Amino acid sequence: MAGGRRAAGLALGWGCCCLLLCCAAASKLEVSMPAVVEVESGGTARIECNFYVPGNGSYAYINWFYIERNNRVRLCHIMGSEIVEENMDYKGRLSVGEDKALSISRVTVQDTRTFVCQVGAGSHGVGENQTELRVYKVPEAPEITANSGGVSVQSIEIPQIAQCVSRNSFPLPNITWHKDGEQLQPKEKKVKILATLTRESSGLYTVVSTLFARVTRADRNSLYHCTVLYWLRGQSHAVESRQVKVNVFYPAQHVKLQVMPSSALVKEGDDVKLVCEADGNPAPVFSFYKIELDDSWQDLSSLADSNSGVLNLHNVTKSSSGLYRCQTLDLDDMKQLEKDVELVVNYIEGVNVKMEPSSPLQEGDSVRLSCDAHSPVALDYQWRDEKGRKVADGNQLFLSNLTFETSSNFSCKVIAPSVPGLEQSKQVAVAVHGKPRIVAISSPLYVRQDEVVNLTCKAIAFPRPSLRWNVNGTAHEYFENQHIASNLTVRVNHDLLQAGAMCRVFNALGASEKHIQLLVESVRKAEKTPESKGVIIVAIIVCILVVAVLGSVIYFLHKKGKIPCGRAGKQDITKPEARKDKIVVEVKSDKLSEEAGLLQGANGEKRPAADQSEKYIDLRN
Ligand SMILES: *[C@@H]1O[C@H](CO)[C@@H](O)[C@H](O)[C@H]1NC(C)=O
Ligand SMILES: *[C@@H]1O[C@H](CO)[C@@H](O)[C@H](O)[C@H]1NC(C)=O
Ligand SMILES: *[C@@H]1O[C@H](CO)[C@@H](O)[C@H](O)[C@H]1NC(C)=O
Ligand SMILES: *[C@@H]1O[C@H](CO)[C@@H](O)[C@H](O)[C@H]1NC(C)=O
Ligand SMILES: *[C@@H]1O[C@H](CO)[C@@H](O)[C@H](O)[C@H]1NC(C)=O
Ligand SMILES: *[C@@H]1O[C@H](CO)[C@@H](O)[C@H](O)[C@H]1NC(C)=O
Repeated sequence: MAGGRRAAGLALGWGCCCLLLCCAAASKLEVSMPAVVEVESGGTARIECNFYVPGNGSYAYINWFYIERNNRVRLCHIMGSEIVEENMDYKGRLSVGEDKALSISRVTVQDTRTFVCQVGAGSHGVGENQTELRVYKVPEAPEITANSGGVSVQSIEIPQIAQCVSRNSFPLPNITWHKDGEQLQPKEKKVKILATLTRESSGLYTVVSTLFARVTRADRNSLYHCTVLYWLRGQSHAVESRQVKVNVFYPAQHVKLQVMPSSALVKEGDDVKLVCEADGNPAPVFSFYKIELDDSWQDLSSLADSNSGVLNLHNVTKSSSGLYRCQTLDLDDMKQLEKDVELVVNYIEGVNVKMEPSSPLQEGDSVRLSCDAHSPVALDYQWRDEKGRKVADGNQLFLSNLTFETSSNFSCKVIAPSVPGLEQSKQVAVAVHGKPRIVAISSPLYVRQDEVVNLTCKAIAFPRPSLRWNVNGTAHEYFENQHIASNLTVRVNHDLLQAGAMCRVFNALGASEKHIQLLVESVRKAEKTPESKGVIIVAIIVCILVVAVLGSVIYFLHKKGKIPCGRAGKQDITKPEARKDKIVVEVKSDKLSEEAGLLQGANGEKRPAADQSEKYIDLRN
């Protein structure tokens, strides 16, 4: 029995020991809480407080504290499920859930503290645990402002590049700087980052970070931005600003001076630009000069825009050719640079046409025209007629068998094929001088008595001739195709039929005239058949002879018959006979002699034509 007790007691003891060992933790009042609770400023923080009372016992009270400078300040006292006592600072912001979790509403950054949950459970004693409340505020996107004044590569101090502002964040964020995406680290004498910190009344931070950095020419294209870094739930987050450029000032290193358009193509009369460019920022001040042959400088800056570096030369001439200089002055460091350019103005001058022979030309002559001109470039020659049509290439033109009709103005066109648009022309008059030549005349003209007719006469000559009619009428004179022509409107009368009309054309070198013969229509009909004409002539001759014989017989008888034929009387009869014989011959050869007369008319011989017409009229009667 005693052994059994001992065994039982041992077992009990073992069991107890085992229970103690196994349930050492659970036998104690335990409070468990999250180590950290994060909540955004303005939100509600919920801090859980879970506890275990051994033996399913219940708790008596819960106390909440916060820790301030190592002191505990009681927040509230809870009995049952009620808050029976409350810290005045937190009044109205606290509530307790079914699970005894404490909620704090309208959290501010001042609530960033450690909260303690203390549970009292009578005989089980008191247990507690704590939670760190972290309040955060995500920073707003940072605002970046570039240095608006621009920065110089030659700045003695490290120049300010930009400033970045990150407002209202908590906890304190970091601001980093980046150039073309790469982070900039502070570096002595090169990169400096200054940050100033402001704590707002809300407890949130505003950070202003300023970047100072040296710049080079290459930085004219650099893009800068800042980044705000902050922690949230154990992780790092970043908000980037927009990218900014700074105006980088650097002195010019190179100057370029160009002729626009390209120098080889400039010709007299062109507008030319000399464009000077420097690679500095800001652009330097430009000055322009022309270097004369004696090495003196002619200041042309008044013709130029000193800001844009463009020199405008209007209507350039041969004398505009020469060496031009652009000089730049950097107002930052007062350094000067210069560049020269040669301007070549192409030209054609002294276009001259020589005529061989140079003496005044007459009909039938030949002439050789030679053209020459001066130019720094190769030239082509062309000949054009008055209407602008090309008649020949080359610098010589040979013209033969000249006539009044071929008189014309020719022009020598000189072209520089290498310079588009460069050409010159010279006109020369190839005028054939001479006395007038009548080229058309309305003769013979068949008319009727009292009819109104047009007499026409057309001639050519140089110098320009004048034209006169020897009869009265209405003259209409006109020029056409180098010819002078005249229409004379007259009424046919007896005198006109008898004498015909004379057209006289003259200039300083002489005169030509031609006769217009007027024939009545009947004569024309008679003339149409040569046989009938012959018959008529024979009949007329016979009649005349008969009349003559009869006349002489009557005369004889009248003078009392006895007296033999007187010498004078015979002569009187034979004379007209001979004359009439002559007329017949002339009439027969009329056409030929008329033609001859016309040809001779050119020589101004008037008489034969006039005689003939007179005889025609006799004949008609
Ligand atoms: C507090 O609670 C945590 C989480 O439940 C737990 O790990 C820790 O041991 C507790 N601390 C104390 C002192 O009870
Ligand atoms: C800010 O910079 C400090 C020092 O470099 C670093 O310890 C901290 O983690 C940074 N904070 C963030 C939010 O990156
Ligand atoms: C010039 O005129 C004459 C006479 O009319 C002629 O024989 C000759 O062929 C002409 N010459 C030319 C080159 O036309
Ligand atoms: C040639 O040109 C001049 C001036 O234009 C003109 O007066 C002259 O009549 C012309 N000569 C001929 C032959 O056409
Ligand atoms: C032409 O008319 C003028 C006056 O009208 C006169 O003097 C002259 O004699 C006339 N000539 C002829 C040929 O009829
Ligand atoms: C001149 O007379 C001719 C012939 O009669 C005629 O063809 C021409 O039209 C006339 N010219 C003028 C300008 O009257």
